[in-house]
Parts: sequence; C-alpha cells; structure tokens
Amino acid sequence: MEEKIEQLKAQAVEAIQKAAGSLSELDDIRVKFLGKKGEFTSILRGMGTLAKEDRPKVGKIVNEAKAQIEALIQQKNEELKARDLEKILSTERIDVTLPGRTVPLGHLHPLTLTLERIKDIFFRMSFSVEEGPEIEKDYYNFEALNLPKDHPARDMQDSFYITEDILMRSQTSPVQARTMEKNEPNAPIRMIAPGRVYRRDEYDATHSPMFTQVEGLVIDEGISFADLKGTLELFLHQIFNADVGVRFRPSFFPFTEPSAEVDISCVMCQGKGCRVCKGTGWLEILGSGMVHPHVLEMSGYDPQKVSGFAFGMGVERIAMLAYGIDDLRLFYDNDMRFLQQF
Ligand code: PHE
Repeated sequence: MEEKIEQLKAQAVEAIQKAAGSLSELDDIRVKFLGKKGEFTSILRGMGTLAKEDRPKVGKIVNEAKAQIEALIQQKNEELKARDLEKILSTERIDVTLPGRTVPLGHLHPLTLTLERIKDIFFRMSFSVEEGPEIEKDYYNFEALNLPKDHPARDMQDSFYITEDILMRSQTSPVQARTMEKNEPNAPIRMIAPGRVYRRDEYDATHSPMFTQVEGLVIDEGISFADLKGTLELFLHQIFNADVGVRFRPSFFPFTEPSAEVDISCVMCQGKGCRVCKGTGWLEILGSGMVHPHVLEMSGYDPQKVSGFAFGMGVERIAMLAYGIDDLRLFYDNDMRFLQQF
C-alpha cells in the first residue's frame, strides 16, 4: 500500500513538472490526483479494507502526499501565471512612440468670442463685470429706470410677462439699478453687464425674441458727456477699427438725459451707402446717455454729488458687422458649417 502511494506521488510530481502548457493542464492534474474521484481520494475511500491498526498510518501518508502535491501544484500554478503575464506584457506592449489619436477640440461660439473681445476692451479701462437675473422684476426692468407702469415708452420693449410683476428682462439696464442698490450710496461705479434679453419680436434675418446685450454704467463725481463720448469712441475704434467714423445722434431713453444713439460709418461700404446701411452710410450701434437724476435718486445715489453715463449695445449686431454675417439666425441654428468658420 505504501508503495502504491509513493508511486502515485512520483507520478503526480512528474506530471506537475511536465505541465508546461497551460493552467488548465495543471488543473486537470489536480483533478486526476486530488479531485473527488481522484487517485488519492479513492485510496482513502478504500481504507475500510485495511487492517484497523494500519489505517492511521496509511491515512497519514496519504494526507502528507496530498499536501505535498497540493503545494507543488500551487507553486507551478504561480510559475505558469508569471510566465503568462510575462508573455502578455511582452506581446501587448504599447508603443508609446506612436502618435496619439487627437480628440477634436471644440471652440468658442462667435457670440462668445465677440463678448470676450468687448469685455477685454472694457477690462483695460478698469470696468468690472456685473450680472443680473434674466427673469426680472417689473420694478428693475422698468420702474427703477424711470418707466412707471403705463409709461408709453414701455411699448418699445413689449416683453414676456410671467406675472404682473415679473417678466423676462427686455434689456440689461435693470443691472444699473441693481448695482447702485447693492453699493454704498454714491460709491463710484465702472461696470459692464453682459447677458441675454427678451422681447416680443419676429424671428428673421435681423430680429430675434432673444438676443444679447452689454450694458455699461459709470458713476463718479464730475462724470460728464465728454467721458461718455471718449469712452465709447475708444471702444468702437478698438472693436471695429481705428478709422471707423463715430457719430452721436440725439435720442430718447427714459433713464438717460440727455440721450444719444451712437452710429458708426458703415463697415460694408465705408460710408458710401449700401444695402446694409440702407444708403445712409451709417449704422446704429448703441444707445447711451447721462444717467437721469431721478434714476440715481431711486437707487440711493445723490445727483447733487455724483453723475454718470450709461450705454447699451447688442452683441449679435456687433458680431454680424465685425464678421460680415448677414443672418442673425445663424447664431442660434447650431449649424456646424457656420460655427466651424470661427
Ligand atoms: N437699454 C436700452 C435699450 O435696450 C439701451 C440703453 C442702455 C440706452 C443704457 C441708454 C443707456 O434699448
């Protein structure tokens, strides 16, 4: 019996040593010798036929042999695994010298680009950026800007009302009142406020019920119309070009007095007169004026101590003129053929 066990053990050891092929080959060996129906198991099963006094001894030998074989299998198993890993590492090695696959990069929308350029110019003049909500109170959108309920000038900016007192803001001018209110009374202000505005309007090549404005507000002691002119001229010469013509036309806004609309010489025909400027040679580009004393007062500023100017421009319009775009809707269509040109 002992001999038989020795023999079996020698067979197992040999098989294990030879098992160079794969982990599954090794597993077959384990099943053959140690499995439920394996050689050693059947010896243990057959113990009943042995003399009683021999049983413990034989059992011990079998178990020792099993343990040794188990250990050998384990060792071989690790060797094979290491070998397989080695093989994978060497065959699947990544060639880091290959050029990578580039991810196509997106880029900024032409309106964002234009807004960035506008901001840049005002940053250089020490303006800060303020923000206000797109869903605005009637008070800030109109009343605080000298447009009481039923004021006829409200008709120019018919908007989307959510309730009697809340609407989609029709202009960025409410940020003027909000900025003054959150400041100490009479504290100097030099800010721009970019953002989306909403008006009941057509959707065609030159109109949209949603568009983008940049508001500007400067308040300090002794601010005059000369400051307004100088600032806006400098801005327009930088955003368009140094020799663009700039003219100020008297106009009306309830929250500025005096008010002026600002035109630039037509960028398409250089002022000669064309379809874009409707033969006039000029393009209206922004609204502006000296902040109305009553507007200052309503937001806690003292018109006896400080004065200021304000302006508002449409970003789409500036982008269209700067890039030569002839249809406003292109900004919102998300047509890649258009967007990829910027
Ligand atoms: N908010 C005005 C508009 O949308 C523009 C404007 C702003 C005019 C500031 C004067 C001063 O038409």
